[in-house]
Amino acid sequence: MVTVMSNLSQAVSSADYRAMAKRRLPAILFDYVDGGAYRETTLQRNASDFDDILLQQRVMRDMSVIETAIDLFGASLALPVILAPVGFAGMLARRGEVQAARAAAAAGIPFCLSTVGVCTAAEVRRDAGVPPWFQLYVTRDRGLVRSLLEQASAAASPVLVLTVDLPTPGARYRDQRSGMARGLGLTGQMRQAASGVAHPAWLWDVYLRGRPHNFGSLAAAAPAAADFAAAWQWIGQNFDPSVTWADLDFIRAHWSGPIIVKGIMAADDARVAVRCGVDGIIVSNHGGRQLDGVSSTIKALPAIADAVGGALPVLVDGGIRSGLDVLKAIEAGATACLLGRAWAFALAAGGEAGVTRMLGQIAAELRTAMVLTGRNSIMTREGA
Ligand SMILES: Cc1cc2nc3c(=O)[nH]c(=O)nc-3n(C[C@H](O)[C@H](O)[C@H](O)COP(=O)(O)O)c2cc1C
Repeated sequence: MVTVMSNLSQAVSSADYRAMAKRRLPAILFDYVDGGAYRETTLQRNASDFDDILLQQRVMRDMSVIETAIDLFGASLALPVILAPVGFAGMLARRGEVQAARAAAAAGIPFCLSTVGVCTAAEVRRDAGVPPWFQLYVTRDRGLVRSLLEQASAAASPVLVLTVDLPTPGARYRDQRSGMARGLGLTGQMRQAASGVAHPAWLWDVYLRGRPHNFGSLAAAAPAAADFAAAWQWIGQNFDPSVTWADLDFIRAHWSGPIIVKGIMAADDARVAVRCGVDGIIVSNHGGRQLDGVSSTIKALPAIADAVGGALPVLVDGGIRSGLDVLKAIEAGATACLLGRAWAFALAAGGEAGVTRMLGQIAAELRTAMVLTGRNSIMTREGA
């Protein structure tokens, strides 16, 4: 089975999984996950702005019953948490999307498969036993979009996440330096190869045994995911910067389930989303990987939740690293939140076992925070 790092049992926080992932992954992949756009200020703020949110400690209430489950899009989630779409996850661990989806299923929460995932929705469904949510990037070729939607429908994906904040890839300096986002000269290529060889557990488990390494859902159209620079170039050339709200009609014509729009950072955009009849929104700045200098998501959330006024579920991601952060996001107006780097690092650190362990810790931390804030149910605020 998957090689699990011997010190996985010592990981107690997301910083621990990050440190383990850094040791296990070739630098190009660690930087791809860890990095953000430009000077990475939004990336930093997404996490650090959680520190400004103060909770109210409450005491002497009966906290013997704690309910963390929520209902979302017709399903019951054990926690108000979803694993966010993360591209190239199958390069972080062998058939990484399947491993993460198995951990999510065991924790009773959804896993969202990226358009640029290594595994297909069909493989995830077959090997994890549960169909994933599917995340869509709109490509210039609408025939390709139709094919992606058909694959997701055929795999019984229950929810479509339409990502709208990547009409063009962000300027990610780390990825440009490492060779992830552009081709390198001979010296750079040799450095990249040496970094792979210097990480034998990854080389054996992922690079050699985790094949094929293409973008599963796009295999017929795009270069292999493992050919990083070519894959990025393809993304830059094929994602459609002309997409507008009007394109929802095309998507709806080929998708019958709920549609959530991911990448909302302005209250006005949230109001348009409500008017367009989408089923949910995700307040997201793509984990600080697109527009650096935009607000953190946790600071943007309250105004957006106000603008939506309960008309539809408002999800949030960005900088969520603990169960305490999950509670803060809910207190700030979110229905649920998504984890990005938190699961990507846990996956790289320990595969399915790593993600399972991390989710168990998030659940335990959330319960602890609820007990100490006197909140019995995550869905209701009565008695607050
Ligand atoms: C390595 C990596 C790859 C990502 N790939 C995608 C993707 O393919 N599609 C997408 O909608 N978002 C993608 N995202 C953004 C995440 O879905 C999510 O919005 C973000 O990671 C949340 O921030 P956090 O990492 O601080 O939790 C990616 C994020 C990371 C870190």
